[in-house]
Amino acid sequence: MKIAFFDTKPYDKPSFEKYGKQYGVSFKFFETKLTEDTVNLAQGFDGVCVFVNDTVNAAVIDRLHEMGVGLVALRCAGFNNVDMKHAFGKVHVMRVPAYSPYAVAEHTMALLLTSVRRIHKAYIRTRDFNFSLSGMTGFDLHGKTVGVIGTGRIGRVFIDICRGFGMKVLAYDKFPAEGVADGETVKYVELDELFEKSDIISLHCPLTEETYHVIDGKSLEKCKRGVVILNTSRGALVDAEALLAGIKSRKVGAACLDVYEEESDLFFEDFSGHILEDDTLARLISMPNVIVSSHQAFLTEEALENIAETTVKNLVNFQENGQCPNELCFRGDSAEDCKSGKCF
Ligand code: NAI
Repeated sequence: MKIAFFDTKPYDKPSFEKYGKQYGVSFKFFETKLTEDTVNLAQGFDGVCVFVNDTVNAAVIDRLHEMGVGLVALRCAGFNNVDMKHAFGKVHVMRVPAYSPYAVAEHTMALLLTSVRRIHKAYIRTRDFNFSLSGMTGFDLHGKTVGVIGTGRIGRVFIDICRGFGMKVLAYDKFPAEGVADGETVKYVELDELFEKSDIISLHCPLTEETYHVIDGKSLEKCKRGVVILNTSRGALVDAEALLAGIKSRKVGAACLDVYEEESDLFFEDFSGHILEDDTLARLISMPNVIVSSHQAFLTEEALENIAETTVKNLVNFQENGQCPNELCFRGDSAEDCKSGKCF
């Protein structure tokens, strides 16, 4: 089985080569992203392997279909970059639903602690032998209320971590999960209540039409003054312009972003020495209370191994059985099917 692997980074190769060899899947690694301009590179392959910023829109799907390339293996959980409706009946799309929720949840807490305890400032100061503490006052997480939007795999691990810190959790999910609320420290509430009562808000839901800009000017207005916004999910959950305005007006106390609305042309690449064209991102990065990491929450050794193993097994499963448990499809039979990941 031959797979065209797009948007290859050096850290992808070792684990994919290892599992590819083990299961008889050969990968041709392309550094370029999959787009309408590069899709022809997939000619002669059985499938493509793509990541979060590759484009799998209607035009790309049609071209893959024309070339007889029937498999799209996402090496990630989110699939908002795939036109699922258009894919139906043309290409089989499979994903890695879970590879390490701990990687993302722990990174979220790392960002939060860095921000509220000014670790990013301390690191730079002490390297310059500046041992002053002025401007370094943080606040305790213990006793604070964190609003968690999306209580799936990652959201639930993040909730557990927050409980360990003695925080109260207000959760919101379109499909609340059993066993999350404990009647004490964790309870499900409506979004408005979450906005009104949370000191910190963390996003762990997928990007859909419903969740697009769930953090915007209107929702920020409902929030407490000084609210901390954490986004390690998908960039467009947050209206970046509204966030910037909230930071300027001091309504938002801090923001930690592992993802950004317009990240696809920037993140994962080295632009040092270049003039950043994106004024909103440049202004956000210039703020002392904004921390940006470039979509690295998933990047742990454990996650990379799991991603490669599951992706390769997805492909082999499909080849051998004509189906795979991690296939996504657009049928929309019921909310329960959608939630179980079997049907979108
Ligand atoms: P999951 O599928 O286990 O959980 C998502 C949860 O969001 C589910 O409980 C679902 O019911 C809920 N949800 C769906 N629609 C909603 C809505 N309209 N409002 C509120 N909640 C809604 O997914 P998982 O594994 O926890 O991942 C969450 C997100 O994290 C992914 O969608 C992906 O965008 C992001 N992610 C980011 C990574 C990074 O490196 N920064 C890595 C992996 C995932």
